[in-house]
Order: sequence, then C-alpha cells, then structure tokens
Amino acid sequence: MTLLYAVIAVVVLMFGFVVIFGAPYVPSKRREVQRAFESLYPLSSNDLLVDIGSGDGVVLREAAKHGARAVGYEINPLLVLISRIASGRYKGIQVKLADLFRSKFPDETTVVYMFSESRDIKRMFAKIEHEATRLKRPLTVISYGFQYTQYEPKGELGAHFMYIVDPTVTKA
Ligand SMILES: C[S@@+](CC[C@H](N)C(=O)[O-])C[C@H]1O[C@@H](n2cnc3c(N)ncnc32)[C@H](O)[C@@H]1O
Repeated sequence: MTLLYAVIAVVVLMFGFVVIFGAPYVPSKRREVQRAFESLYPLSSNDLLVDIGSGDGVVLREAAKHGARAVGYEINPLLVLISRIASGRYKGIQVKLADLFRSKFPDETTVVYMFSESRDIKRMFAKIEHEATRLKRPLTVISYGFQYTQYEPKGELGAHFMYIVDPTVTKA
C-alpha cells in the first residue's frame, strides 16, 4: 500500500510541478490536428515541426503522417516516455526532455505548434520571435485554443490559429 501511495505521489508531482513552468497536460484533439495539417497549413516532407510542450506526442505523430519531421520539447519525464513509446514506429520524430524556454529550435524548423494557456502565450511568442531572429527567417506558428492579439492571424480553422513570426517585420 505504501508503494502504491508513493507511486501516486510521484505521478501527481510530475504533472503538478509543470504548472510552475507552463501549461499543464491536456492533449490536442487528434482529428482537429489532422484537419489543421491538411487545410490550414498543409504539412509536407519539406517541413520540420516543433511542438513546444509536446505532451503525449499526438501532434508529432500527426506531423509524421504528413511526411514532416517533428521535434517535441516536453518537461514531464513520464510524458516523454509515453510519447517515445507511442511514436516508436513513426519516422522522423524526436522527443526531448527539456524546458522549451531553454531550448534552441533545430535550424531547419519551419512550423512551431503550441497549445498553451493565456498566462504563457506572450512568453512563448517572445521565445519564437527570439528563435526566428536567430534563424534569420520567418516561422509559421499554429496555436491551438488561444489567439495572440499582438499578431494578425493569417488563417484559422476551428480552434487552430495560424501566425507568421517574421523577424524583419515590426508587429502591430
Ligand atoms: C496543453 S499540453 C499540450 C500537449 C501537446 N502539445 C498537444 O497539443 O497535445 C502542454 C504541455 O506542455 C508541457 N510543458 C509545460 N511547460 C513546459 C516547458 N516549460 N517546457 C516543456 N514542456 C512544457 C506540459 O507538460 C504539457 O504536456
């Protein structure tokens, strides 16, 4: 019984401590992600998608089904383990146990996916702006569930909003 309580405590802690760093775990709806990668931003093998806070990896797997490479940053070790196991049969997926705010996106990144909460949206866009400036080119951002009023959306589909973060353009 003590072992069971210990395991429950560890799991609760793993999911609870994340709130200090960012949004808690809630997965995107797979069907909606699939539609977004077909109609909002048709993903292809030319893309490298980064999911900042990749959860169980559902977004990474949908990206891989469209031939794209996909890199996830996830701070919860249990979710990293689950997503690595669930994504094992897909090509081109990497899941990193890392704080997204302390990570450098791969140089080939074309699209950044985020499902965060209003508290963190500004900070996450600041991180993406920083990376776009470092890479010296625009990055497409797909945000699930949250709009960012500092940018004009370039498209939307259901709960997905698409933005372009261009380091050469001053935002409104
Ligand atoms: C709302 S969930 C979204 C999961 C996934 N992107 C999806 O759409 O299904 C947010 C995820 O971000 C992770 N997270 C929160 N803060 C983070 C941080 N600073 N670095 C990396 N991951 C973080 C959480 O553990 C959680 O799994």
